[in-house]
Formats: sequence, structure tokens, C-alpha cells
Amino acid sequence: MKFFLDTADVAEIEALAASGLVDGVTTNPSLVHKAGRNFLEVVKEICAIVPGPVSAEVVATDYEGMLREAAVVRAIAPNVCVKLPLTLDGLRACRTLTADGAMVNVTLCFSAPQALLAAKAGATFVSPFVGRHDDAGFDGMALIEDIRLIYDNYEFATEILVASVRHPVHVLAAAKIGADVATMPPAVLRQLAGHPLTEKGLAAFLADWAKTGQTIG
Ligand code: G3P
Repeated sequence: MKFFLDTADVAEIEALAASGLVDGVTTNPSLVHKAGRNFLEVVKEICAIVPGPVSAEVVATDYEGMLREAAVVRAIAPNVCVKLPLTLDGLRACRTLTADGAMVNVTLCFSAPQALLAAKAGATFVSPFVGRHDDAGFDGMALIEDIRLIYDNYEFATEILVASVRHPVHVLAAAKIGADVATMPPAVLRQLAGHPLTEKGLAAFLADWAKTGQTIG
């Protein structure tokens, strides 16, 4: 299972990439707004830190505009993945761009039939938003299960990129279902590594070690 960071915060990406656990990055217009930085500059910096796919979202909503903006973001680095909304224009642009060798992440997926369309359009990734699905009173993980089943039925190569992850249990559930990727805020990746018993056990070991009066090396 691949782990992507869902952020446009370059300092956070740099800090967590050092762990070797970051396989890619996803950004969106809201995250760019939050970062308060120039979009193209931020994407360029992220691409230099993380060699895996870095999703950069277009904001045009028509086919021609999406292709124009996709050309701009693709020129930044070879690991840019063009992020397109799950609309008919977005799916059309997905088909054109993937035929041209681009990586494409089809985003804002909220139903299994939508995910089926993304796969048929040749998407590299489809991004179902589990947190927002839960917020709206639906079961986000049931959506991931349905997409996994459909993609396996037809051996679609499109990777399921679980997005709108809010907590470690989302990542656990996605892994149990066999989702290909989970993109998560930096805080969630940090939470995954933590456990109160790990901290407690480490503190006890260090206290006992100090009593031995020894050093290593
Ligand atoms: O990048 C898309 C997605 O992960 C958004 O998450 O928390 O805004 O629903 P959120």
C-alpha cells in the first residue's frame, strides 16, 4: 500500500519524506490556498522532494481549458500527476491525457459508478473522498469496498487512491480492503506511527538504561 501526503505544506513534506514512508503527494486548490503560496512554485518544490506522483489540480471546468492547464503543470516535472474533476469534461480530458502518456488522478469521486467511469477513461488513480462521504451520512469505506470489487472484476489498472482521510482508522480500513493508496494529512501519518504503549515502554527502557550507567559506542 502506498502512502501519499495530502498537503501543499512544503516544510511538512520535507520533514516526513525523510522517513522514507512518503510515496507521493496530493494537492488541491484548497490546500494551495491554505499554504498561501504560488501554486506552480509549490508543485515544483514538492516534485523535487518526492520522486513519486505529485497531483496538481486543474481549475478549468471545460475540456479545452483542462488540457491547456494540464500542459502547464506537466511541464513542471515528469512526476506531476494531473488532477481532474470527475465530470464528463474531466473524463474526456483524462482519456486524452493518458493516451498522451500523462499520469491522471480523477478526483471528487463519490460513487462506485463514477469510479467505473474513471477506470474506463484510463485514469491512473481515482480519488474517492471517504471523509466527506462519512460527513454526508454515507459509509465511505463501503464505497471503497465497492470500487475494489468492480476494479477486480474487470482487472482495471486504475489505482484506488483513498482521499479525504481524517484519521488512522480510515487508513487501516482502506488497507484491509486492499486500496492501492491512501493520501493523508501529515498529522495522520504521524498518528499512525504513535501508540501510548510504545511511548510508555520506551520511557521505561530509557529509565532502566540510565540506571545501568552504560553508553553504547
Ligand atoms: O485532496 C482531496 C482530499 O483528500 C480532501 O480532503 O479533508 O478536504 O475532505 P478533505
